[in-house]
Amino acid sequence: MTEQAGGDPLFQSQDPIFNRKELLHVGHVPEEDRIVGRDDEMQSVAAEVGAITRGDPPNNVMIYGKTGTGKSLISRHVATRARDAAENNKIDCGVLYVDCSEANTETRATRQLALNLADQTGYEDHIPVRGVGTMEYYQHIWSILESFFDSVVVILDEIDKLDNSNILMQLSRAREARKTDAYIGVIGISNKVQYRETLDERIDSSFGHRELFFHPYDASQLREIMRNRQDAFQPDVLEDGTIELCAALAAKKHGDARKAIEILKEAGELARRTGSETVSERHIQQAQEVAEINRIEELTSGATAHAKLALYALASCIVTGDRETYKTREVYQRYVGICELVATDPITENGLYRQLKEQAFLGVIESEKTGGGRSQGSYLLHRLVTDPKHIVKAVRRDSSLEELPPYDKLIDSSDSTRERVDLSSFS
Ligand SMILES: Nc1ncnc2c1ncn2[C@@H]1O[C@H](COP(=O)(O)OP(=O)(O)OP(=O)(O)O)[C@@H](O)[C@H]1O
Ligand SMILES: [Mg+2]
Repeated sequence: MTEQAGGDPLFQSQDPIFNRKELLHVGHVPEEDRIVGRDDEMQSVAAEVGAITRGDPPNNVMIYGKTGTGKSLISRHVATRARDAAENNKIDCGVLYVDCSEANTETRATRQLALNLADQTGYEDHIPVRGVGTMEYYQHIWSILESFFDSVVVILDEIDKLDNSNILMQLSRAREARKTDAYIGVIGISNKVQYRETLDERIDSSFGHRELFFHPYDASQLREIMRNRQDAFQPDVLEDGTIELCAALAAKKHGDARKAIEILKEAGELARRTGSETVSERHIQQAQEVAEINRIEELTSGATAHAKLALYALASCIVTGDRETYKTREVYQRYVGICELVATDPITENGLYRQLKEQAFLGVIESEKTGGGRSQGSYLLHRLVTDPKHIVKAVRRDSSLEELPPYDKLIDSSDSTRERVDLSSFS
């Protein structure tokens, strides 16, 4: 018999699958003992900003790494611990966090810093939220720091989304320019490694900084991360082997902890929707498929139609051929054929090569350089890192590409060993 809430049979008093579902929410910040497999990274970040706990100047640091590798989590965690340790040593230390994907201009970012600082202190001046410029916000920031703090750690998350990097210069020069005596340590975070190059060009030497790279999680780390949250489920609901399977699948695809946790949650939802009392490996498999299509769609959402056609062409080569990897030239031939069928002008082979390299950077495909011997030169071999079916579904979600011909029927006209399929009905 199921218990009933307030006597109304329409509502069950207890969720049959989830116990503490909040442990699986995207924004959930795990307690310290639930953070796993990032000890070295924590030590490295602590080594850069840790000087503030002794009243000394900290280093600035940039953290790079793919999505879901714990950059935001570890930065916030180490910064908060540094603040607590500093306070134990009678040092007034603050932690400021700015999500630059939202506060994506210098004005927005400085406004957020000023308001955040005012919130943390008894600052009495009024800080206007509109109608004033960056300079006024900086004035408030300097004067709050001067009156209330010995040091602050400023986390600029998704820093590549900022429209300019002036804020880095201002923060790192503040002491030198006698704006404030407080020490300021900046932790910049980005999942775009290319940001390094643009940063080098834009920024002057005053933002001296170390660089750290966070690597994707392996299966055993993902397993630990998920085990630490398994009390999100009711006891005995997760069948044996489900966490292991989820970790293995996520490690193979991307090593992204956020995605792994999402799959676990989605598997639970699936079990509940289908009235199952337990979460089985089949639920994990199904949840993983949906998540993978969403992931590919997200990754390719900013791509041009030609990049998507290139992925479609590669998927088609793999499904109709007998190999896992294809040369740029081979993908190009298939791509040109598809363009003809959908009456689109193809881009050049070199253009397609660049599109494929971009997709490789994003992690949708892997491209490997292979030496063909001295006289033949070297060439790139491309492979998909996901099931071709997922690529096809993700590409077809683009409304302009819904009408693509079936990818498993396409063959090159030059391929005489195969029977040519009649494609006239698709054009
Ligand atoms: N080492 C870990 N232990 C426990 N949970 C973790 C760990 N690393 C990441 N997570 C969880 O995975 C999710 C993603 O982590 P986080 O937001 O820090 O990734 P990120 O590297 O900042 O990714 P993005 O580049 O997409 O912002 C969070 O919900 C976080 O709690
Ligand atoms: Mg992040």
